[in-house]
Amino acid sequence: MSDILLAVENLEVRYGAATALRGASLTVPRGQLVAVIGNNGAGKTSLMRGLTGLVRPSGGRVLFKGEEVTRLPAHAKVARGLAMVPEGRLIFPDQTVEDNLILGAYAHGGLKTARAQATLERALALFPRLRERVRQPAGSLSGGEQQMLAIARGLMAEPDLLVIDELSLGLAPRVVEQLIGVLRDLNRQGLTILLVEQLAAYALAIADHAYVVAQGRVVRDGPSGLIARDPEVMEAFLGKKKAA
Ligand SMILES: Nc1ncnc2c1ncn2[C@@H]1O[C@H](COP(=O)(O)OP(=O)(O)O)[C@@H](O)[C@H]1O
Ligand SMILES: [Mg+2]
Repeated sequence: MSDILLAVENLEVRYGAATALRGASLTVPRGQLVAVIGNNGAGKTSLMRGLTGLVRPSGGRVLFKGEEVTRLPAHAKVARGLAMVPEGRLIFPDQTVEDNLILGAYAHGGLKTARAQATLERALALFPRLRERVRQPAGSLSGGEQQMLAIARGLMAEPDLLVIDELSLGLAPRVVEQLIGVLRDLNRQGLTILLVEQLAAYALAIADHAYVVAQGRVVRDGPSGLIARDPEVMEAFLGKKKAA
């Protein structure tokens, strides 16, 4: 099998008459951690929704494991190994932590099999705070714990590729750093990750390769170390001032 797990070609996403994504392409090699960075409103979430099937792209193609999956709905992509941690987490606050996790295993029939039980055990081992709170309503968790839950729910689908949209949203730097460390460990253990992050420095610190999105297009890509040191990227596309 090709070692390109995900290929997005010229993807377009529209909301009514508004075009949010104007032909974006990227590839995610198996085993890598790939970052998508860009300012608020650049089109990052539209790119993620288009490639995961949460919105139907108006143009372009999505290939996963070498097969075209452009028009498959999100749940069918999850069943094939493409899981998403959505922007804003979208957990079910009135349901328990455990029930939220079980929902993540939906594509594999819930917690019926020993394999699913083992996956749950691994997710709880990764996040001991979730284990302590497993019978509490998810809405009672802190923001950082809710993000842990959203990541753990994604892992319950046993994905080959985990897409995470805005890991840092609303979280304190210390919490973001902790979660970034977890993603790095998961990637080292072999999980392929596509990380979308407005706070570029966090994503660039752990990514192999980075794509910069601005105004609905991919405007740059390269090894994350080079992107991090590219003054034009920081000034023109991420709105950072030049160091004095
Ligand atoms: N559901 C929607 N309906 C209409 N316009 C939207 C919708 N979601 C996003 N947009 C617009 O699409 C553009 C890209 O947004 P988005 O993909 O959310 O960017 P990002 O994730 O980089 O902040 C923005 O101009 C935004 O206002
Ligand atoms: Mg977004």
